[in-house]
Amino acid sequence: MRILSVVGARPQFVKLAPIARAMAGRAEHTIVHTGQHYDDLMSDVFFRDLGIAAADVNLSVGSGKHGEQTGAMIAGLEPVFERFEPDWVLVYGDTNSTLAAAIAATKLHFPVAHLEAGLRSFNRRMPEEHNRVLTDHAADLLLAPTAVAMAHLAREGLAKRSVLVGDVMTDVLFTVRDRVFADGIEGVGDVERGTYLVATIHRPANTDDPDRLRGIIGALATVGKPVVLLTHPRLRALAARHGINLHQGGLTSIDPLPYPQLVAAIIHSAGVVTDSGGLQKEAFLLRVPTTTIRPETEWVETVDLGWNVLANDVEAIAGAISRPAPLPTDASPYGEGHAAETVISELLKHVE
Ligand code: UD1
Repeated sequence: MRILSVVGARPQFVKLAPIARAMAGRAEHTIVHTGQHYDDLMSDVFFRDLGIAAADVNLSVGSGKHGEQTGAMIAGLEPVFERFEPDWVLVYGDTNSTLAAAIAATKLHFPVAHLEAGLRSFNRRMPEEHNRVLTDHAADLLLAPTAVAMAHLAREGLAKRSVLVGDVMTDVLFTVRDRVFADGIEGVGDVERGTYLVATIHRPANTDDPDRLRGIIGALATVGKPVVLLTHPRLRALAARHGINLHQGGLTSIDPLPYPQLVAAIIHSAGVVTDSGGLQKEAFLLRVPTTTIRPETEWVETVDLGWNVLANDVEAIAGAISRPAPLPTDASPYGEGHAAETVISELLKHVE
C-alpha cells in the first residue's frame, strides 16, 4: 500500500515524524512538501532533528495570499498524485496545504484521510477553521485526536467516516521529551531556569492590526518576568513594518527554535503565552501553565483541566499570567503516545 503524505507548514512536519516512523515496514510512504514554509528554521531543521526522510517532491510554492497560495498548491499536487497513484492521500491539521491536498485528491478520486479531524474553534474568521471544516467534509476517513473532536464530527453528520485514533503530537512530544532529559538538551540560554515565560504570537488576528500587536507586545514586556519571544517570520516582518520593538522591558525576541530546543525551553520555563494551537497542548502535556491570547481554543481539554486560560483582551494578559498554579492532574485526553500506530492500522484496514 502506498500512502502519500502532504505537508507544508511547521506543525505538520512535527506530526509527520511519528507517522513516518510508524509507516516503516507497513506501507510505502511518499512525502510531498508544498513549500508553504521554506526557511531552514521553519522547515528543514524539523526533518533533520526528527529523523524524517527528505521529501520526495517539493512544490516550492512559498508565501502568498490565501487563494494564490492554495491554488498554486492544487495545481502543483495534481500531477504528483497522478504520478504516484497513492492508495491514501494523508493530510494533516488545518493549514492551506491541508485544504489544497484535500481538494486536489478529491477531484482526482484518490481517497483522502484527514489527521487531526474534527477540531473546531467555531470562529469563522480564522483561516484554519475554513481549512478544517472544508477538509473534513471532503475527506473519506476522519482520524480524530479526541472524544470532543469525534462529537463535533458526529454533529456534522460525519460519524460514519470518523475514527478516534488519539493525538500523534503526544507521540512525538513524549519521544523528544525523553531525549531532552537523556541528552541534557538546553532550550534558551542566558536566562535562569524556572523564571521565564516562553511566548509565541503568529496568528493574523494578533499580528495584522498594529494597535493590537503593539498592545500585546507591551503587555508581554511588562509582566514582571523575563519573556523569551520565539519570533515567527510573520511577526518579525509586521513588527518591523509598524515600528514595534520586540526587545523592550522584560521581553527578548529570538529566532524560532528547533523542536528539541523548543521542548526543552518549555520544560524549563515558568509558563507559556501563545496563540499557537500546538504549543497550548505541548505545554499541557509537559504540565506547564499556559495563557492563550485568543478568544477560544480547539484544545478545550487544556482549559477544562485548568492548565490553560484564554486571555484575548490585552488588559487580561497580565492577570492571567500571574494566576495561581493549576491543580495537578493525571488526565490524558490526548492519549498515551501511540496514536501513529493506530493511524497506520486504520489506513491499512480501510484499504482492505
Ligand atoms: C501557517 C498556517 C497556520 C499554522 C502556522 C504554523 C495557514 C492558513 N496558516 O501560518 O495555521 O499555525 O503556519 O507556523 O496555512 N514566512 C517566511 N518564511 C517561511 C514561512 C512564512 O518568511 O518559511 C512568512 C511570509 O512572510 C508569509 C508569512 O510568514 O507571508 C505567513 O506564512 P503563511 O504560510 O502564509 O502562514 P503562517 O502564518 O505561517
